[in-house]
Amino acid sequence: MSHQFPPAPIDAAALAAAKAPFGHSRMLPAEAYLSNDVLDWERQHFFDGSWVCAGRLDDVAEPKSQKAIKVGHTAVLLSRDADGELRAFANICRHRGHELLPCGASAVRGVIQCPYHAWTYELSGDLRLAPHFGDVPNFDQPNLGLVTINHAEWNGWVFVNVSGDAPPFLSHVDALDRIFANYELGRLRPAVTHEYVLEANWKLAIENYQECYHCPLIHPELCRVSEHSSGDNYTDESGMWVGGTMDLESFAATMSIDGASGGEVIPGLNEQQRRQVDYIGVFPNLLVSLHPDYVMTHRLEPLTPTTTHVECQWLFAPESFERPGFDPSYASDFWHLTNGQDWAAVESVQRGMRSPKYVPGLLASNEDAVYQWVSLIASGYAGESMARGSTIVRA
Ligand code: FES
Ligand code: FE
Repeated sequence: MSHQFPPAPIDAAALAAAKAPFGHSRMLPAEAYLSNDVLDWERQHFFDGSWVCAGRLDDVAEPKSQKAIKVGHTAVLLSRDADGELRAFANICRHRGHELLPCGASAVRGVIQCPYHAWTYELSGDLRLAPHFGDVPNFDQPNLGLVTINHAEWNGWVFVNVSGDAPPFLSHVDALDRIFANYELGRLRPAVTHEYVLEANWKLAIENYQECYHCPLIHPELCRVSEHSSGDNYTDESGMWVGGTMDLESFAATMSIDGASGGEVIPGLNEQQRRQVDYIGVFPNLLVSLHPDYVMTHRLEPLTPTTTHVECQWLFAPESFERPGFDPSYASDFWHLTNGQDWAAVESVQRGMRSPKYVPGLLASNEDAVYQWVSLIASGYAGESMARGSTIVRA
């Protein structure tokens, strides 16, 4: 079972070129990065029609906590009841459609109350109170509860599927369940969160993440602790994700300016996992970078075709938090520097896309994960069952 959507408003020949075999393919056409119509389509299908990461369970950890999050066209209200059960609702009042919480806002209270005319809902979503509706004929209170949205809790994240018809969640992540297992991500907690707004389309940040061809020129600090051509990409694993590994240099315990770690190695890791970093892009909006001693995530939300909100978090095991004087900045400072280098690059690419002289480019042999990602996206745009393209040896 896989995602399949109606065709996107993009030139079919350009999509065919993006899906051509590796070594012959082209990148996506500029309209995929510039057009409001394409972003509308993506919000409806790639975001509302798929499983989208809506954040960490820590965001709504307390009983009675609520948080509103924009997903695609739809804002979602996450609500934890007094007994600890998490639910997801459309963030829309059943009276006249006011948002229950502003997007991004949180609350802790025993009811969900609309700030417009005070319709009040139980944390289960049932409508408890609608002032001045006692004398309204045919007022069907039992059927005016909040609209439920499918959600899945996985490795400490919450994912939502607004349309309700995406394939089962576990088929979305599939092999990642096994690849992530030793990291016990559910017990990791964020120590640092950074927010960025990029002047670039959301897909450019992911394409950039899928290759280290650019590393020697723009990431001198990264290249000191991890050789840019080391490691392998995952090619035969199933699921809606693309990724690969890179090795740490022999002197480096982790990715930091001097290669030293200020935390503890995540306990369950095997020898190989202690010497590498996994870089995984989960369709459509979550990047997960697994290090021996911490996990960095980027959660993307498109704001416009040319701007993207990024929430970047650094997660650590309880053993690191228990360390006397634990300071996570060895990880977050290193990647904040590296993020800035990447954002400058993707913002430059975005400016290039705007030129009428832009022509979709070619991919080098070490950009095979970019190809996997782009061909996955292109097959979705083309109205086909979404699948990564074939990685074949160049002719
Ligand atoms: Fe919510 Fe009126 S729109 S109470
Ligand atoms: Fe980079």
